[in-house]
Formats: sequence, structure tokens, C-alpha cells
Amino acid sequence: MAKFQVVNHPLIQHKLTIIRQEDTSTKEFREVTNEIAMLMAYEITRDLPLEDVVIQTPLVESTQKQLAGKKLAIIPILRAGLGMVDGMLDLIPAARVGHIGMYRDHETLEAIEYFAKFPQDIQDRKIFVVDPMLATGASAIAALNQLVNKYEVSPESITFVCLVAAPEGVKAIQEAHPEVDIYTAALDEKLNEDGYILPGLGDAGDRIFGTK
Ligand code: URA
Repeated sequence: MAKFQVVNHPLIQHKLTIIRQEDTSTKEFREVTNEIAMLMAYEITRDLPLEDVVIQTPLVESTQKQLAGKKLAIIPILRAGLGMVDGMLDLIPAARVGHIGMYRDHETLEAIEYFAKFPQDIQDRKIFVVDPMLATGASAIAALNQLVNKYEVSPESITFVCLVAAPEGVKAIQEAHPEVDIYTAALDEKLNEDGYILPGLGDAGDRIFGTK
């Protein structure tokens, strides 16, 4: 089974409390969401492989470490995932960014891809799929299905990163894509009857973009 980790660093917990509050402004919500995403990026990159490199300091020649292995890509699930991209790029600025948007057809209940654009070497990259809220897991699983089945990305190369997860969503991803690592800043209690996470923070997309 892949990794499941709650990144409960004190700074992350403090910042999550800010964005959970209903009177936090759009501006502050956006800023703090990016700050949390930046702190998450620190943790999700902890296991990146390193290689030895011989360098010349002003004093001596020395063997030091540099990043090795796959290049990185961040893939936000539209639209709320966009709110995490800048924060993550602050820490991993060389990462490429792809986008995927899915909607559910009301009649067939089928997940339809309405937008997808990825770096051309996406199959060779280590991929961070990001979406602030992991609720039922439906949109995350739909996006992961597309990446794995249509774009032939290896599930072992994917890490799903969210800020708030419901146990139901974590279980759903683990069942559908057991090879995908999951990192969240918080594991909340449950979903309500409308599919919102409790206690949660409301609709992340609306709060990031100020659309409600
Ligand atoms: N999506 C959100 O933005 N919020 C929730 O609570 C659940 C899904």
C-alpha cells in the first residue's frame, strides 16, 4: 500500500485554522492557502532521490548532494487546485504545471474530461496532483483515472496532495488507486449529506476565487 500521511506541522495547523474560519477574506484565504501548499511541498519532496556531485568550494573540492531522478510536475484539478500551485512553485520552481478539469454528466453520472494539458514528457515525471479538498474522492479518482488510463502515467509516480481530507475520500482513492501516495494537511471527521467536509472550510473554489 502506498503512503498516507497527515502533515500536521504546527505552522500548517495554525494556517489551516485561519482558512477554516468563515470570516477570513478572499485575499487572506488565497494567500494562506498558498502558504500551506508551500509547506506541504516541503514535506512531499522529503523522499526525492539525491546523487553525489563533486564541487569546488572556495577552499577545497568536495562531494555534495544534488537532486536526482525524475523531474517534477504539479497538476491542479480545476478549479480549486489552482489555489495551491503558486505556493508549491515557490519551493519547487523548476516543476512543470499541467491542468486537468473534470465534470460529472448529470444524466449518465459519468466523469467527463473538459480540459487537459500536460507537459509532453508527463509519463517520465514525478507528479503531484493537487486539490485542496478530498471529499467523496470522485473528482480525484476521475482525474487519476484519466492520467493512468488515457495518458499512461504510472500510478507509482503520482502523489495526491490536498489540504483537508474526509476519511471517505481517502478510502475511495486507496481502493481505486492503491499505488498513489496521499498527503493531507488535515483528516477531518466526515462528509455531510451534501458532500461537504465537516468541519471543513466550505467550498474551496468559491473561497479562493471569491465567487460566493
Ligand atoms: N469541495 C469543497 O470545496 N469543499 C468541501 O467541503 C467538499 C468538496
